[in-house]
Amino acid sequence: MSIANVTIHEVVQERYGSIAAGVSQSCCGPAGNCGADALGYDTANLATLPDEVVNLSLGCGDPVSIASLKPGEWVLDLGSGGGIDCFLAARQVGDTGYVIGVDMTLEMLKRANENKQKLGAHNVEFRRGQIEALPVVDNSIDVIMSNCVINLSPDKAGVFAEAFRVLKPGGRISVSDIVTEGEFTPEMRADTLQWAECVTGALPVEEYTDFMRAAGFVEIQVVDKSDAEGIVERSEGMPRIFSARVTANKPG
Ligand SMILES: C[S@@+](CC[C@H](N)C(=O)[O-])C[C@H]1O[C@@H](n2cnc3c(N)ncnc32)[C@H](O)[C@@H]1O
Repeated sequence: MSIANVTIHEVVQERYGSIAAGVSQSCCGPAGNCGADALGYDTANLATLPDEVVNLSLGCGDPVSIASLKPGEWVLDLGSGGGIDCFLAARQVGDTGYVIGVDMTLEMLKRANENKQKLGAHNVEFRRGQIEALPVVDNSIDVIMSNCVINLSPDKAGVFAEAFRVLKPGGRISVSDIVTEGEFTPEMRADTLQWAECVTGALPVEEYTDFMRAAGFVEIQVVDKSDAEGIVERSEGMPRIFSARVTANKPG
């Protein structure tokens, strides 16, 4: 990869920091998917959340509904943003469960904590950190979720290795993410702004699942995959871009 990892982190933080602070209006891409309505969430569930949460949804799908969460489980959300998936998960795991959201962007954590206060979500905690070096102890999490974040990482192998480390044996992962059919050129990959818009950091889905396998995950399944038009903006000459939901397990 030709761009330094630190540069990617800086550009990504700047983008999501200004969205969280209300400076920038557009969301994951110029197509502007602010708001959860079009992402496949259960509308009855969304109706129970305040507008501040729903309107700061920057994902590309709904990883919570395929996570099969149970009361009492410990859940970790990689790149939790304004917290939408954490709050939905918190209801499902109940008072005996716990949800941790990790995000590296301070302004986003501030918004997530304001939303937490508003909802009185006592079983949710937001931690600052990078998903490539999770501030979470080994073998402590039942379920990892992530929504439109891993494509933004310059070190996908590191993210899946960390996810594997913190999951309990037998734990599971459910992600929604942007993937491609085909490769971006090195010049396209070097466009950090498009990377931060969830476009040019995306990998072909086979490469994505290969990283999961290399980290030790088993029973990897691409649950569904749909065209990401309307979520991210694809330019001329780019490979086809999809929003996929992927699940896998850590061996028991
Ligand atoms: C596209 S938004 C998705 C937010 C949330 N998952 C949702 O569905 O609304 C990406 C989020 O991931 C965070 N993020 C991106 N790369 C990260 C990294 N390497 N480590 C931690 N957080 C990261 C950003 O700060 C931002 O809040």
